[in-house]
Amino acid sequence: MWKVQLFELNYDHREEEAVAQVLKSRWITMGDQTKNFEEKFGAYIGASHLPTAVANCTAALHMALLALDIKQGDEVIVSGLTFIADANVVKMTGATPVIADVTSLEDWNVSAGTIEAKITSKTKAVMIVHFGGVPCEMDEIVKLCKSKNIALIEDVAHAPGAEYKGTRCGNFGDLSCFSFFTNKNLSVGEGGMVIAKTEELNSKIKFLRSHGMSTLTLDRHKGRAVTYDVLQPGLNYRMDEMRAALGLVQLSKLDEANAQRKAHTLYYHKLLSEFQGVKIPFQNTSEKKLAYHIYPLMLPGGVNREAVFNSMKDKGIQTSIHYPSIKSFTAYREELKDSFTPICDLISPQELTLPLYPTMKKNEIELVVENLDKAIKEQA
Ligand SMILES: Cc1ncc(COP(=O)(O)O)c(C=O)c1O
Repeated sequence: MWKVQLFELNYDHREEEAVAQVLKSRWITMGDQTKNFEEKFGAYIGASHLPTAVANCTAALHMALLALDIKQGDEVIVSGLTFIADANVVKMTGATPVIADVTSLEDWNVSAGTIEAKITSKTKAVMIVHFGGVPCEMDEIVKLCKSKNIALIEDVAHAPGAEYKGTRCGNFGDLSCFSFFTNKNLSVGEGGMVIAKTEELNSKIKFLRSHGMSTLTLDRHKGRAVTYDVLQPGLNYRMDEMRAALGLVQLSKLDEANAQRKAHTLYYHKLLSEFQGVKIPFQNTSEKKLAYHIYPLMLPGGVNREAVFNSMKDKGIQTSIHYPSIKSFTAYREELKDSFTPICDLISPQELTLPLYPTMKKNEIELVVENLDKAIKEQA
């Protein structure tokens, strides 16, 4: 159906063989592959504690809030321009999500300033997202959270491999959460990872992942344990061995894949620099290494996004939206109707995301840009 899809997997025989090996081993639930993936991922990020592989990033974020004992009566600040999981998990704990505006039409991340504007006596945590793989201004955000004694959660779903002043994203939060969903830079279908800053939080996360049990199914299978105790209430948010095996292969490809994404992004920048009125965010990102997760832009005011989307679709080009305003969703409309986020309110209705993936070809990028040009001109 599509000539150019929004995203394509960079899978080859290595992913196929990794999964086949797991199937041949006859052990498919959390075990040695998962442990190996956690160790390698932790080493890659430079984490101080062994990460915890989980079912997905939504589970990771939920666990992070539970580990911080966030509950009814607490407020958690989330970005007004992020995936709905960030607000949903806060609601699931009974706490209240409060949305912070992004910095400017050029910088679509929250900042210490936009966060501080939303802090109240009830604020217990801030959940930042490195939008599109661009690190937030972490020095200022970490300083703010410390000075106000507020926990910091990093949503690193877009940013595995991104760095702020030489430190990889995932090392700044009290807890940091990654997504390995299909369209992510490191893709296993469904998967995630939690990195905790302290031993205490790390221990809570490990128990939350698997029913609060003191031993693993694998320990009992291998005869290393007879039974188990339940040390605290928990969930089943485990990853399985097939996905961990995919994760190991994908991790080994991550740096090269991010470099390919970078080259495609720069080519888009070059071709789009002649477009009148189209705003490309994050053009000034010195001191940061980006993960180039998506290619977002803002259509000129007055251009009907749905018409552009449909015109592109008719030409076989898939586009997307990052993100619809949280305030626009039925589940949040009433609760958030008075939230003041003027910059997000300008971005959300005009945002369009172009296809971006490591294996993309130059002529595909050219086709996307050509058709975007036509689609915008049809509107003039
Ligand atoms: C910024 C952000 N946070 C959280 C999530 C949730 O990730 P998952 O699909 O792994 O639960 C996503 C995934 O789309 C995301 O983009």
